[in-house]
Parts: sequence; structure tokens; C-alpha cells
Amino acid sequence: MSSYAFFNGKLVPLSEAKIGIMTHAFNYGTACFEGIRGNWNGEQGQMYIFRLREHFDRLTESCRVLQIEIPHTMDELIAVTLELVQRCGYREDTYIRPMAYKSSEQVGVRLHNLEASFLIFAMPFGPYLDITKGAKCCISSWRRVDSNMIPIRAKINGLYVNSALAKTEAAEKGFDEAILLTHDGHVSEGSGENLFLVIDGQLVTPPISDNILIGITRDTVMTLAKNELGIGTIERSIDPGELYTAEECFLTGTAAHVTPVIQIDDSSVGSGEVGSITKKLQDLYFDVILGKNKKYLDWCTPVYKLVKA
Ligand SMILES: Cc1ncc(COP(=O)(O)O)c(C=O)c1O
Repeated sequence: MSSYAFFNGKLVPLSEAKIGIMTHAFNYGTACFEGIRGNWNGEQGQMYIFRLREHFDRLTESCRVLQIEIPHTMDELIAVTLELVQRCGYREDTYIRPMAYKSSEQVGVRLHNLEASFLIFAMPFGPYLDITKGAKCCISSWRRVDSNMIPIRAKINGLYVNSALAKTEAAEKGFDEAILLTHDGHVSEGSGENLFLVIDGQLVTPPISDNILIGITRDTVMTLAKNELGIGTIERSIDPGELYTAEECFLTGTAAHVTPVIQIDDSSVGSGEVGSITKKLQDLYFDVILGKNKKYLDWCTPVYKLVKA
């Protein structure tokens, strides 16, 4: 199966989508991106792209931080994403990566007086963490970048060195994922996921002011918990000690879906098994992202035009 990219305004084979070594974004991290999932529903022979519009809204916000204007309307972005995935023809879970970047081949650290370009590529992408057994996490020795260093609500490429340091440190210590704290020692998030605890049967998650990316999966889970389970979410600062005493813990993200956390450092979370509220939310979430729950079909953009027999 051939892979394609949307590059310099047209669909080209992935192998032809190349940038020069002097590209500003490559040298200084001056790019922003999104991670979007196409979820393959085998029974229906359909792929549903999850909350596409919200991802492009967040990309637009990230672009504003970097002084980049995407030369496409929202409708064009959606259309071109669909065309790209259709052309790739994947019939499995897929990851879609739009990126806006400073494309001038110029040396000099700045944001102004530089040209920008936009691209999208897509690739098959299975589970990121173990969603069935759950993940073992450690508290990272790296602190989360503070919002007054780089605006944290933007998905800026250069920012991800912070995540990469934490993830690799965790992997080298034998853990699956890292949990980063803020400068003042509150729980922030995983290297690429938001974090939730279950305390007294309620969801508790760090507030936006604790340097989290405002996750689309985070919002999805909060919405499903409230609407479908009658469980509210308290957004408040979390002390690291609470990680060890919570009933349940899970991570949310486009890549990680809803991943239970069963161990933090040397301590089991709750019983050390996947918690019951986590499991209920996971089941609801997977029904929704696979286009099986009619109530939330607005969040799912079908990729293929199905011909009825
Ligand atoms: C640092 C970070 N936090 C949280 C998330 C989760 O965000 P979302 O649910 O929108 O994928 C991501 C993934 O994009 C991330 O990179």
C-alpha cells in the first residue's frame, strides 16, 4: 500500500515529501502539529476520524503562537485530510499528523520575517500504551515546561524535547510512561497524555494552569463521565502523594486513548488491576470513537464512501 502526504499544496507520494536541512523548523523547532486518529471499525468497513475540527482548531491556536497562518480554511483542511487518508487507503487504525512550520531556509532564531508551510501525513498506528493491562508510570525527574517559557496550550514541536527526555528516562528505568510535575511540584501530565485520578468515586484532573496541554481526549472523557455515568470531574492541583492513594488512575490522549495506570513508581494504584470506573470510561470511549454510539456521531468523520449492497 502506498503512503502519501499533503505537501506544498498537493498530494504527493510520501517519499517525495522532503525538506532541506536549512529549514528553520528543523533547526529551531519552530513548528506546531496535531496528532489525530482515524479509528478503524472493521464491522462497518469504515474509518472514523475523531474530533477532526477540534484538532484543527487547536492547530490554529498553536499557529497563532508561532505567527504562522495556515493557507487553508477549516473546510479545506477537513477535505484534504479525507482525501489524503482515502488515497492512502488504510483499513486499520491510522494516525494523522498535520504540521505547520517555518519553512524558510535561513539561519537566525526568531519567529518574524519567515515563510511558513503546511503539510499532513498519515500512517498506520496501533496501540501506543497497553490499554488492556495498563501502564506502569514513574514520576519524572524532569519538570514540565512552564507556560511562561513556551505557551503550553500550543503543540509546538520544540516543546517535545521535554516530553522525550521524560519518556526515555521512564523507559530506561523500566517504566512505560512518565508523569511530569510542575515547577511547584504539582502533578501536570504524562509525556503525551493528560492524567486523571479517581478519588471518592469522582474524577480529579490537573487544571489548565498546571501546564497541561488541553487534551481533546481529556474533554471527551470528562463529557462521557458526566453525561453517561453521572460522574463529575474536579479540576484542581494534585499533590504527588495523591497518586499513591487514589482509587484509580488513567491517562488520556489521542495516541494513548484511555490507558489505565496500574503502578506509579514502586506502588500499585488501587488494587493494582484496571479500576472499574476506568474500565467503564474506556468501554464508552471506544464505542464513541468507533462510531458505534449514535449520540456522539458528530465527533466522528467517516473517511470512506460506503456503497450499500
Ligand atoms: C503533552 C501532551 N499532553 C496531552 C496530550 C493529549 O491530548 P489529546 O487528547 O488532544 O491528544 C498530548 C497529545 O497530543 C500531549 O502531547
